[in-house]
Amino acid sequence: MGDLSVTFTGLRFENPFLLSSAPPTESDSNIMRAFDAGWGGVVTKTIGLHPVTNVAGPKTKFLRTDPETARITMQTRPGTALHSSWNWELISDKTIDWWLPRIERIKRAHPDRILVASIMAGSGSDTELRHWQELATGCQEAGADAFELNLSCPHMDRQDMGSNVGKDAGLISVVTQAVKEVAKVPVWCKLTPSTTDIAAEARASFAAGADAIVSSNTFPSLPPIDPQTLEFEVHVDGLVSSGGLGGPAILPLSLAKMSQMTQAFPDKAFSGIGGIADFSHALSYFLLGCGTVQVCTAAMLDHAIGPNVIKKLNEGLAAFLDANASRGWNSVEDFRGIRRDRVVQHSKIRRPEGKEYFGGQEAPEGYAAMEGDAAKL
Ligand SMILES: Cc1cc2nc3c(=O)[nH]c(=O)nc-3n(C[C@H](O)[C@H](O)[C@H](O)COP(=O)(O)O)c2cc1C
Repeated sequence: MGDLSVTFTGLRFENPFLLSSAPPTESDSNIMRAFDAGWGGVVTKTIGLHPVTNVAGPKTKFLRTDPETARITMQTRPGTALHSSWNWELISDKTIDWWLPRIERIKRAHPDRILVASIMAGSGSDTELRHWQELATGCQEAGADAFELNLSCPHMDRQDMGSNVGKDAGLISVVTQAVKEVAKVPVWCKLTPSTTDIAAEARASFAAGADAIVSSNTFPSLPPIDPQTLEFEVHVDGLVSSGGLGGPAILPLSLAKMSQMTQAFPDKAFSGIGGIADFSHALSYFLLGCGTVQVCTAAMLDHAIGPNVIKKLNEGLAAFLDANASRGWNSVEDFRGIRRDRVVQHSKIRRPEGKEYFGGQEAPEGYAAMEGDAAKL
């Protein structure tokens, strides 16, 4: 029987599956239920210092598609498969004062489970940076095992918050350093996927002392427009703003982001998120080098905290370890990252017999050397 546990940023998780920061983790009752259901860890819904006010309408909807029409729409109808979630929900509408006694209570009830506090503040001034420190100090005194810095919320108007921080290596650096100054527990940076080269933001995070990178948050997106009413499928008074796409549709997008980072930093810690509903999805992230993975959309659709999802993930990992015991694989660490180096430049992929391709360049001098490289792959 393989060992489902992992050690990630120095913390021992009973299994490598976490609920990500989102509605499934928005309250102490949900988090307790999640631990009872078997999740190895939970990241709280992002906690800020000031109350937020959400839009006057639904905050999350699910897009579905069907083989008959190929339409992608939020309209519910029989015979559909889930395509994605779309949301424009802000961070927790509960303040830090609401959260702190609850973090204490959760940790008292589940001392062996890992509770990560997701936190967020502005970053435009020293006062704002002190807010990060205030959040961090409060949460760690209450018993949080690690921090996840939300540098990735896609719905912020402020230029010094959420994904706007995650797009700016300078801001990533000052925020991470500010939290590291007071943190006695590991600090994870959750980066936005909406940049051109996420390895650059990962570099800034690690240089500032981050213990791990988490990705992806949702991808910037709009709901479809209804062909009858000509209104966006989600709107308030006819208006919409950019929201975030999660669920099955983002799995391949998020894997590509993760691969860029794990190749650039093969010795660092990564937690993968995006489109995970069963073990085969999680496995792709492990094979690219992630030590843990996180789930949101699939859990939202399964009794709010994913009891069946975590059961399938744990069973899938146990069966995978069983099936591969003869290779000496007893835990995630034994196969983590073994497909990381299979992602190569396009010109390194073999061409049909007799055809050559030089990555868009003229045939280089010394082409024989390149042929040798290709043969090695
Ligand atoms: C309704 C909703 C609210 C979310 N709120 C947060 C949040 O407060 N903080 C955060 O870091 N990510 C938040 N997320 C992003 C998720 O944690 C996760 O990164 C994303 O949904 C991708 O995972 P998935 O494909 O499993 O849904 C939210 C996602 C959804 C759908």
